[in-house]
Amino acid sequence: MKPEAVLESIESDAPKRGLPIIGPVRGKILDETIAKFKPSKILEVGTLVGYSAIRMGRHLEKGQKITCVEIDEKIAKVARSNFEKAGLSDLIEVIVGDARNVLPKLEGSLDMVFLDAVKVDYIFYLRSVERLLHKGSVVLADNVKSHADEVADYLEYVRNSGKYTSTYRDFPLGYRMASGSPEGDAVEVSVRL
Ligand SMILES: C[S@@+](CC[C@H](N)C(=O)[O-])C[C@H]1O[C@@H](n2cnc3c(N)ncnc32)[C@H](O)[C@@H]1O
Repeated sequence: MKPEAVLESIESDAPKRGLPIIGPVRGKILDETIAKFKPSKILEVGTLVGYSAIRMGRHLEKGQKITCVEIDEKIAKVARSNFEKAGLSDLIEVIVGDARNVLPKLEGSLDMVFLDAVKVDYIFYLRSVERLLHKGSVVLADNVKSHADEVADYLEYVRNSGKYTSTYRDFPLGYRMASGSPEGDAVEVSVRL
């Protein structure tokens, strides 16, 4: 299957099953970021069934890589099967575990990080992998509008630590969940100085 067909199938399934994927509206920022920064090594924290990873992975070439960290083994299995369907298994690996334990042990450098697991832990995730970032590495954090209180310390850090230039990207008319109500949200995009 083409990756786009797998994405469409997840998009139609997600509202029915209440799966909190980034969706096709905010998901465009992942496409844009990859086109702009051309990252070779990507880390995703919180993978669910693999929607956002497929969205990113379809732009990558042999030799480039996404490392996904997902705590739920059953969900990780579904994600792996979706990567297989999309023909992206060689480019995407899944580590099953709690990001709070996995991230401090990661090695190598990272060009892009996508944070989408426990919102209150975004700051911990970032601080755990900060040693792997370089000038120009880009960090995206999803749901910074819907979970503003939980990510307040994260936003304070990326905006005011002097280590990043940071932009709030608001998508007021987001992906429509089953209820039909618009699920607008925002993504914080921070580039390491
Ligand atoms: C919002 S969903 C991710 C959606 C996905 N990024 C997408 O857009 O398609 C959050 C995911 O984070 C996972 N998660 C929650 N706590 C975690 C943790 N401590 N470490 C790793 N993954 C975690 C959940 O199991 C869930 O699959």
